[in-house]
Amino acid sequence: MAKPAVFLDRDGTLIEDRGHLDDPSQVAFYPGTFEALRRLGGQFVLFIVTNQNGIAKGITTPGGVRRVNDFVVRRLAGEGIEIREVYCCPHQRSDGCECIKPNPYFPRQAERDHGIDLARSFVVGDHPPDVELAANVGARGIFVLSGHGEKHRDELGVPCEIAAGISEAVDRIAVARAVDVLEAGGLVAFPTETVYGLGADAANAAAVKRVFAVKGRPEVHPLIVHLGDASQLAAWAAGVPDSARRLAERFWPGPLTLILKKSPKVHAGVTGGQETVGLRVPSHPLALSMLRVFGRGVAAPSANRFGKVSPTAAAHVRADLGGDVDFILDGGPCEVGVESTIVDLSGAEPAILRPGGVTREAIEEALERKVEVREKGLVRAPGQLDSHYAPRAEVIVVKPGEAEARAAELKRKGLKVEILERPEAPTLYAWLREADARGVDAVVVVAPSEEGLGLAVADRLRKAAGPRK
Ligand code: TXA
Ligand code: MG
Repeated sequence: MAKPAVFLDRDGTLIEDRGHLDDPSQVAFYPGTFEALRRLGGQFVLFIVTNQNGIAKGITTPGGVRRVNDFVVRRLAGEGIEIREVYCCPHQRSDGCECIKPNPYFPRQAERDHGIDLARSFVVGDHPPDVELAANVGARGIFVLSGHGEKHRDELGVPCEIAAGISEAVDRIAVARAVDVLEAGGLVAFPTETVYGLGADAANAAAVKRVFAVKGRPEVHPLIVHLGDASQLAAWAAGVPDSARRLAERFWPGPLTLILKKSPKVHAGVTGGQETVGLRVPSHPLALSMLRVFGRGVAAPSANRFGKVSPTAAAHVRADLGGDVDFILDGGPCEVGVESTIVDLSGAEPAILRPGGVTREAIEEALERKVEVREKGLVRAPGQLDSHYAPRAEVIVVKPGEAEARAAELKRKGLKVEILERPEAPTLYAWLREADARGVDAVVVVAPSEEGLGLAVADRLRKAAGPRK
């Protein structure tokens, strides 16, 4: 299948525009360039398209320009970023060449030589001809205000997106790609402030079915529908009680899921046949952009295989689901690190079905009443044991002061043991994954006190320590 590409301008986009560069010593990458391009990680074919008219003008030499280009490519390769090819036009506009931007010459060459799907590709640059090039090949243009961008901003003659610099341009590219994939019925792993989600268009039954298949999750287990804005609540719920409005107002966007009676439009594949639906507006900026551009609901469980530790970084998703997901929207590590708090407002009394990123204390304050933690309301697949959120290593929860003795006892049995003292939410899951990677057999944990986020952490540790199948 033809692949999407990103055609990157060089000077003023990736590296500082310091005039006509003739030597690698003059190269200065913009801060954040490596980190940004890495987030496109293998999901786009990357090209550099650069106009070096200094050659035609006799200011630079072909050899000097080549050395600079080679250096840029090597430097990026050293950062784990592959540039498939550098396309360089050595002419000036008065030469009337075919290859100068915005002529479609180089993208067409990429299409032929590398099987690029130009309609799903992007061109990024700080001059109007960069985004005109995009328009000329049916790709999308992103104009950056770095380099000469600010100066030429008023001269833009074609529709394009505007970004401050390469990092923001990459955000736009990734979000646009995620939306394309959702619209086509594909699966997108996306960052939220809690954990990464494995998303599908909630209105597309076949796409939702695939989420269950990829996750290995029983189909009676309902998914949370993620929305871009609280104003969409009314379209998904059969009625919005005052308590729901209050919590939405106070905590959205944020790590809170509301269980409400479902509106007729919510299909059974999402709710596992329940009459209720889980709804949430996440606060991660990329999740919000994706949901707002998409404009519809995205059904998503956490992006891990069923029963495993939830992913809090794009690398975790890649390790768990790899090629089974169509696009990974990399938004860096998750800030909260445990799943959303689930509050059931579908019955007579509100109840917390799963402690999470919004504390029980904060919910009680907002509702001005006590709220029970009642996990029985959580819909679990038949036969599903308490073990959830479990790493490969055995997890043993002990009281403060007992960890050393317990660890010593296990070590005497020849096990590789590590102690985890009062872990905190943002790093808990990543730590458990790393323990597995270190080949740890057993983790002896002292749980934190059950206040604030500690309640959610203690809950996940109990489940990780629970009986396994
Ligand atoms: O933070 C989170 O909530 C993350 C991110 C991706 O948003 N999502 C997440 O989804 O943790 P998942 O599918 O791994 O867990 C959702 C939980 C499940 O235990 C499910 O049974 C429960 O929410 N749930 C969903 N809809 C429900 C409903 N209508 N009634 C009761 N429980 C429901
Ligand atoms: Mg430029």
